[in-house]
Amino acid sequence: MPYTAFDRTIKIAPSILAADFANFGAECAAVEAEGADWIHIDVMDGHFVPAITFGPATVKALRPHVKGVMDVHLMIENPDAYIGAFAKAGADILTVHVEACRHLDRTIAAIRELGCRAGVALNPHTHESALDYVLDDIDLVCVMTVNPGFGGQSFLHSQIDKIARIREKIGERDVHIEIDGGVTVETAPLVSHVGADVLVAGSAVFKGGSVGDRAVYGRNIAAIRAVATQ
Ligand code: DX5
Ligand code: ZN
Repeated sequence: MPYTAFDRTIKIAPSILAADFANFGAECAAVEAEGADWIHIDVMDGHFVPAITFGPATVKALRPHVKGVMDVHLMIENPDAYIGAFAKAGADILTVHVEACRHLDRTIAAIRELGCRAGVALNPHTHESALDYVLDDIDLVCVMTVNPGFGGQSFLHSQIDKIARIREKIGERDVHIEIDGGVTVETAPLVSHVGADVLVAGSAVFKGGSVGDRAVYGRNIAAIRAVATQ
């Protein structure tokens, strides 16, 4: 498994939602070569969120192209029906939305039984108390700083206090705080200062670059990391 030990250093996780959909394998390899820590894979089903992206077959096809952690964000209804397929496809982290899980505790246990790290995502309107009885059993909290469904949206500043409260709740536990949506050089420091350690960024990483001009990806990743670690 590419996921190794827990640490709270800043990790940049490019979302392939902003990559060239006809060239995912090369795009993943390019951002990894340019310093990406994890690859964030946004799965959308057209029900939980309006858009449709891709499923386990794409994750499986990408596995040989990704050396590090495949961080799979399931924006889907009834995730229980699909977590087995995503685990088999090679996901390292499977994150489900609390709003999509009727029996969240059971879903988290099932993800871990499949050998993956378990993440729980909260939509912007969802209170952090939804984490209260699962915090000992998860590896990651994903705080949505946009309404899920599309890349390129504006960061919701309303989530900053929530991130700080989640950091406090987590205490000494080995649980990552991942921020997803609208992360840029302007917003990254706001969330790292209150305890976030995984920064998902789609537009801010892929803008201006390409597989053929991947140094731009490297500069974009370095710029986010620099402001988040200062
Ligand atoms: C939103 C997705 C995000 C999104 C991030 O539904 O979960 O991962 O792609 O994209 P940017 O960084 O463009 O907001
Ligand atoms: Zn995401």
